[in-house]
Amino acid sequence: MMESSSAPQPQPNSRSVRPLPKDRHLFRNLHAITADPIDMFQRLIQTHGDAFQFPLLVWKVVYLNHPDGVQHVLQTNNKNYNKQNADYKIIKQVTGEGLLTSDGDFWLRQRRMIQPIFQRKRINEFGTMMVQTTQDMLEQRWASLQKEQTTFDIAEEMMRLTLSIVGKALFTTDLGDIAETVSQSFIEVSRRLGSYNLWVYLPSWFPSAGNRRYQNALHALDSTVHRLIEQRRLDISTQPSDEIPEDLLTFLIRAVDEESNETMTNQQVRDEVITLMLAGHETTANALSWTWYLLSQHPDVVEKLHHELDSVLDGRLPTVADLPNLPYNQQIIEESMRLFPPAWATTRNACEDDEFNGFRIPKGSIVLVCPYTTHRHPDFWEDPERFWPERFAPEHSQGRPKYAYFPFGGGPRLCIGKHFAMMEAQLLLATMAQRYHVKLDPSVPIVPEPLITMRPKHGVHVTLIRRNE
Ligand code: HEM
Repeated sequence: MMESSSAPQPQPNSRSVRPLPKDRHLFRNLHAITADPIDMFQRLIQTHGDAFQFPLLVWKVVYLNHPDGVQHVLQTNNKNYNKQNADYKIIKQVTGEGLLTSDGDFWLRQRRMIQPIFQRKRINEFGTMMVQTTQDMLEQRWASLQKEQTTFDIAEEMMRLTLSIVGKALFTTDLGDIAETVSQSFIEVSRRLGSYNLWVYLPSWFPSAGNRRYQNALHALDSTVHRLIEQRRLDISTQPSDEIPEDLLTFLIRAVDEESNETMTNQQVRDEVITLMLAGHETTANALSWTWYLLSQHPDVVEKLHHELDSVLDGRLPTVADLPNLPYNQQIIEESMRLFPPAWATTRNACEDDEFNGFRIPKGSIVLVCPYTTHRHPDFWEDPERFWPERFAPEHSQGRPKYAYFPFGGGPRLCIGKHFAMMEAQLLLATMAQRYHVKLDPSVPIVPEPLITMRPKHGVHVTLIRRNE
């Protein structure tokens, strides 16, 4: 199944410079994007090709589906594109000027300070904690779920697990009660942005029940995180350094910008902490939830995975050092994120008029790139709907353009947690799949829900099968 040899070189095809779709009806587009954005995008791609424009309320949206177009916006001409649009403004209400939502010189300074914290060597130190947290979940929760043959939502379980892991990476201790506050607050934010519904653009002071819930959650989150930061600053200034936890919070407080020699204020640390919590748990949880769903449908893939895990690990828990010897485990995660990219779409604001291969991108338009559709581009992916992890093996990947696959974005705004996330997803899958397999409950439909991230709308309900019993 050679994928790449049959794929043409990444030249934008002739369909890629079509003008504005004839369907200019503002409210029809609003309805379509609210009801089912992916269906709308796929229909537009079929009719108009790899680059087109459509109106949405007061905005012009430019959609670029070809890997070259994606590369143009995220990398080659990234300076012309910022995040000053409605989508990011809503996320900003929670993350403030954190890395995900800030722009320009301020973002650059923050990225310079935080990048070293995410070096591979440092992040690898969290590997043991990731595996141990998963093992605790297996012993404390999954053992009895399996024994009782309880049907449960594994997507919710993955959310709890990854939140606990990012919490420990940030604060060393488990988040405990804060975990619930963080997740609830994020669910509120997701609802606002993701539904593409007019109501979500109501000002946040408007006294609706949803707004009150949202404001309360945000307030609780804020005061808890501020308390943790103040306590840690005090500890750093009063206690011997070998007693200070080596976690992300300490690294953020100690980070110094090499150019200006500045450190972060409590508010800046707060924005980055909340950004890392939010950006760092739901995405990885979704990647694992979709992986479990796909595995439940593909016994042949499961068999091959079990064979790899058993022959490399022989029953012991995985470590970071094992990961290079578990290539199929990695390919499963990659293929799962191809079909269900957790960050399924990304937008940018065009600062000046621009052009890509003859296609005009007007100043002020919202540029939309969507891994969900590009990851299914038939010029680069053979049989795109098929779950086939081997397509990520080196022999099947040659010649594939870089931006045919971009679950972590690209260019200067590439996900800073990419290594953290890939390591985490692989370690967690290896730990869980070594002991358990899942059987899907067919009574609960699997429906992708493209909000800020792409979740399974009704969860992924399963029962557990213990392996080797
Ligand atoms: C499977 C898991 C993950 C996926 C799919 C993912 C995806 C992405 C994507 C697509 C972007 C770029 C957004 C844009 O260009 O607008 C991004 C940015 C970011 N991600 Fe992730 N992410 C994941 C896990 C993580 C983790 C574990 C962390 C931190 C612990 C993290 C922290 C961030 C931050 C801080 C940014 C903003 C970077 C910047 O603009 O400088 N992400 N992520």
